[in-house]
Amino acid sequence: MKRHLISAADLTRDDALLILDTAEELAQISSRSIKKLPTLRGRTVVNLFFEDSTRTRISFEAAAKRLSADVINFSAKGSSVSKGESLKDTALTLEAMGADGVVIRHGASGAPHRLATWVHGSVVNAGDGTHEHPTQALLDAFTMRRRLGDLEGRKITIVGDVLHSRVARSNVLLLHTLGADVTLVAPPTLFPIAVDTWPCQISYDLDAVLPKSDVVMMLRVQAERMNAAYFPTAREYSRRYGLDLARFGRMQEHAIVMHPGPMVRGMEIAAEVADSPRSTIVEQVANGVTTRMAVLYLLLGGSEPAIGGDQ
Ligand code: CP
Repeated sequence: MKRHLISAADLTRDDALLILDTAEELAQISSRSIKKLPTLRGRTVVNLFFEDSTRTRISFEAAAKRLSADVINFSAKGSSVSKGESLKDTALTLEAMGADGVVIRHGASGAPHRLATWVHGSVVNAGDGTHEHPTQALLDAFTMRRRLGDLEGRKITIVGDVLHSRVARSNVLLLHTLGADVTLVAPPTLFPIAVDTWPCQISYDLDAVLPKSDVVMMLRVQAERMNAAYFPTAREYSRRYGLDLARFGRMQEHAIVMHPGPMVRGMEIAAEVADSPRSTIVEQVANGVTTRMAVLYLLLGGSEPAIGGDQ
């Protein structure tokens, strides 16, 4: 594996399978009363969050702590960033504190890539602008594998605001690497310009794609990243691209519903669908901890066994 995880494209099929298999092994400890391993004892992980997060920030912290790493949580709010300190100087300050790994979320696409040129430790991209969110794609693939088995040939449909979604891009890249057949569905205004170069199909018609899908992943409309009107009204968007109960009823019986969160109930997904047993939304959050444990272990753990030794 490479030293950093910046993009899902950094992962070969063997790398991705190694992470997913390691996460499966590490998931065993989530059912124990003491959910802790000594694997990263003496190592320091810095969580560097310049953008809001609930799931990713908390799960990286839980993952590092379960592996016994020392954890430093940095949030741009309340830091010297508000006094004008640059990303480079912030990074070098944290480097001086002995970070072995830096997990970064930033509003600017490419920030983790820049950071990787300034620090000695491993950099993990926890979401950069509209670019990528590779650990979200890994936890999504882990969740799909647990529910459906091997992903080779599986039909995965990703629906919604693809234009602003780092989750969609990372999922397309990783799922393609794992042999799945991905279709993106959105209104024409919510596809990025070069989407035809991505390794997937595109469609504007959710109702045509839905009955063939093994997985339907809904995306939130990211109003905070929009500076123009991309569709007439929220009601119209929801009618054409929302997963309501009627559409849910037309999915195959084994098919599952996913959402990376945060979700807007009643907009892209009906509450009854989000809460159904075929929805994996809560499972995805739990799987985020074990998947991120696997990533931290494989990037920082060297040759130590993930499970074993003096537990
Ligand atoms: N899925 C995801 O990245 O959620 P957060 O923004 O809450 O971290």
